[in-house]
Amino acid sequence: MKILNIGSINIDYVYEVDNFVKSGETIPSNNFKVFLGGKGLNQSVALAQAGSQVFHAGNINIKDDNIKKELIKWNVNIDYIKEVDESTGHAIIQVNKNGENSIIIHGGANRAFESSQIDKILQNFNQGDILLLQNEINKIPEIIEKAANRGMRIFFNPAPMTKEVLNYPLSLVDYLIVNESEAKKLSKNNIDYDEIIYYLKNKYSNTSILLTLGEKGSIYFNKNEYLKCEAVKVKAVDTTAAGDTFIGYFISYLSKKKEIKDCLLIASKAASICVTKKGGAISIPKNTFII
Ligand code: RIB
Repeated sequence: MKILNIGSINIDYVYEVDNFVKSGETIPSNNFKVFLGGKGLNQSVALAQAGSQVFHAGNINIKDDNIKKELIKWNVNIDYIKEVDESTGHAIIQVNKNGENSIIIHGGANRAFESSQIDKILQNFNQGDILLLQNEINKIPEIIEKAANRGMRIFFNPAPMTKEVLNYPLSLVDYLIVNESEAKKLSKNNIDYDEIIYYLKNKYSNTSILLTLGEKGSIYFNKNEYLKCEAVKVKAVDTTAAGDTFIGYFISYLSKKKEIKDCLLIASKAASICVTKKGGAISIPKNTFII
């Protein structure tokens, strides 16, 4: 069983601020750093740090090929990373005093996937192999349909959540991984957790759903199962990539046939370590610090 992540690669420009900038305001930043990130790249790094072999398929600009060297250092396979003319994707991230973030992404190369490229990648993966996707690249519906035709197990994290997601072929997705705001938008803006769960369980009846709630923990459910896991309490300095860490670790341990409750617990511990460090991919811990 192989794990393929077709996902974004971003350069993160991170500004530490007292409070997020408001409309019409100009504010000074207390600190500025550049990190490697992107929900796709972060989730591949989390899978690798959790001990899984992961193939990351993504696009970067020709002049940023140092990103490939970094990924190799993290033990992420780069056979399916393509160099393109578009600029590498980037993110402008504000991190406030509570460690919370506010992010703008610019797709660039992440949105330059072509159908022929997707066919070439997918022909190397088959029945039972895992495909992980986020919503920072183009051609997601096509990728889901083609991967489902090959019998791959599809994990989809619809982040960032856009209105287009509602028209994606989500019934072909085996695992949907959402945070609170994504879950609300997917369930016609239901506010109450019970209503959200009821709606999603019935609407996506062949899908298992993992709802991540930050410091309130996580909930895993499908038509037959319901499991809740508490979050590990820590002082957050930067929550960037915490969700990505959770997802990578959850999938890694699920693929190693661990029970769901253990996957949730390990993922939760990994995410709790991530938030105590600054940055995206660089803050994702190795599993030796967790188990
Ligand atoms: O989930 C965190 C990531 O979201 C950042 O690394 C940034 O690049 C955005 O994609």
